[in-house]
Amino acid sequence: MSRDPYALAADAAAALKSTTGVDSFDVALVMGSGWLPAADPIGRTVAEIPVTDLPGFAPPAVAGHAGRVRAVVTESGRNALIFLGRTHLYEGRGVDAVVHGVRTAVAAGAGTIVLTNAAGGLRPETQRVGDPVLISDHINLTGANPLTGPRFVDLTRVYSPRLRELAREVDPSLSEGVYVAFRGPSYETPAEIRMCRALGGDLVGMSTVLEAIAAREAGAEVLGLSLVTNPGAGLVDAPLDHEEVLEVGRATAARMGILLAKVVNKL
Ligand code: 6GU
Repeated sequence: MSRDPYALAADAAAALKSTTGVDSFDVALVMGSGWLPAADPIGRTVAEIPVTDLPGFAPPAVAGHAGRVRAVVTESGRNALIFLGRTHLYEGRGVDAVVHGVRTAVAAGAGTIVLTNAAGGLRPETQRVGDPVLISDHINLTGANPLTGPRFVDLTRVYSPRLRELAREVDPSLSEGVYVAFRGPSYETPAEIRMCRALGGDLVGMSTVLEAIAAREAGAEVLGLSLVTNPGAGLVDAPLDHEEVLEVGRATAARMGILLAKVVNKL
């Protein structure tokens, strides 16, 4: 991506408005792997297009990561933008491509960004596979940052305490955790998983943190939700399997969709 990424996001937002006919969005949701089937209860679909119809979006590189964007109207009358799939750093297109959706959504009016992902659980003693966990904070071990130059963005409250409270009102059983991000695409070694636990991590994954930083820079509030799809490597005696990650999503789609719909309706 050689053009100024902020100008490119403004172009994508303009194209989004003209193709969907929606003038301004209130909220955007990024559906991580395992979360795609949870998109349907969020609202009534107004338009759905391949992201590649918009400036700056590249075709999806990994199976199970559909690259489409849907405009919906929620029960509460909000205009929501739903990204069905995201670009990951491990796809090799660079940081700007990873955060282009978030920048586009904010340029299209979204003041709230909901980031979902599938994550490995670092606390199998207390976490169950198939449970959603609110992200309270993150540790960015990707080695990347979407910001360049003297943009000293405050990350004291990346994941909005207000939105976390609101999500817990919807589902009081939601627990919170610190999300540790690696570049991937290989899963971690057992030694890396032990390191993450020692660092105070509760969840591990390959997304979300760069988008959260870009959203904060752009002034949006962020809510992060992980779906625990498996314990981290070495915590149980079983290998990790991407297909298993997607299967947990299919099995929990109804619950996750209802949770997201209720949260969005409260915004
Ligand atoms: Cl164990 N690690 C990472 N990096 N991402 C994951 C995962 C583990 N489980 C689901 N996604």
